[in-house]
Amino acid sequence: MPPSDIPRTLPPMKDLTTENITENVHLVNSQCTDPRLRYLLHRIVTHLHDFCLETRLSSEEWQAGIQFLTQIGQISDDLRHEMILLSDTLGVSSLVDAINHPRQPPATEGTVLGPFHTHDAEDMQHGAVLHSDPDATRLLVLCSIKDTQGRPVDDVKVDVWEGDSKGFYDVQNPNRAGPDGRGVLRSDSEGNFFFQAIVPVPYPIPMDGPVGKMLNALGRHPNRPGHVHFMLDKPGYDLLITALYPRGDPYETSDPVFGVKESLIVDLSTVEDEGMAAKYGVKVGTKLLTHDFVLLSEQEARELRRKNAVEAMEKQGRKVVFHKDLPIPADN
Ligand code: BEZ
Ligand code: FE
Repeated sequence: MPPSDIPRTLPPMKDLTTENITENVHLVNSQCTDPRLRYLLHRIVTHLHDFCLETRLSSEEWQAGIQFLTQIGQISDDLRHEMILLSDTLGVSSLVDAINHPRQPPATEGTVLGPFHTHDAEDMQHGAVLHSDPDATRLLVLCSIKDTQGRPVDDVKVDVWEGDSKGFYDVQNPNRAGPDGRGVLRSDSEGNFFFQAIVPVPYPIPMDGPVGKMLNALGRHPNRPGHVHFMLDKPGYDLLITALYPRGDPYETSDPVFGVKESLIVDLSTVEDEGMAAKYGVKVGTKLLTHDFVLLSEQEARELRRKNAVEAMEKQGRKVVFHKDLPIPADN
């Protein structure tokens, strides 16, 4: 009599070979009662096994991969997100964002969250100064938020963050006393918000960890084009995580984390009018970034996501069903 935790329906798993180990792993995983998890495991095991077989992965390479992932875990903590960095530099973050937050005009496109968002940014009033950096070139940021019908969206929680004039985020400062270069605002009744940031500069992603070693080994440069990050959040609307990139940055077309989109590149201008300068509490000559964000409703995003999922699975010749709003093949 086998112990009760070994299902009787499974064949004995012994003497497995390169030919049949994959189907046996699938068999044992097929006991999973969650259809989406079962599907994900089926696919990842298939791809992992195929990768090993296809490349004839050596034991040394396998060991190096295990060590690499272990080091990623070891260097990570609440402020150091090396795993996100790995996902970013392999293009996975951009891909997952595009699948989950599909956009069609006029909705604002999203981009990578990156590893430098924190949850301790303080609430700030419109017009507040984001940075304590004394060397930076000031930038007045004036924005509106609308829905796809062109109606203003008020009371959106707007989380903004950016690096300093040397290209460092506050969390990279070992003596960080608290948040700097980040803040949270709310859009007003007309869907507008404004604050003072700094003209962003290009900066290298963290290179002192395993992901840095990987980029060096691949002969890749680490420099992101300058940008300001925005996260726009309001119940009923699809969360928008995005960034704006001033035009003309030398790294605009070679971002190491694949985050730049033409629609997110902005032309900076200058505050030239005294009335405007007084209205927003800045000096004439201050650099100016204006942008109109457009949010998709949750419903619009959900419909687009489902439509794209159905089309993607149909291309693979499979019919799709949805489990808790996530796609699985009907024959899974
Ligand atoms: C960032 O923009 O903050 C960022 C994004 C991905 C990787 C590293 C940094
Ligand atoms: Fe950034």
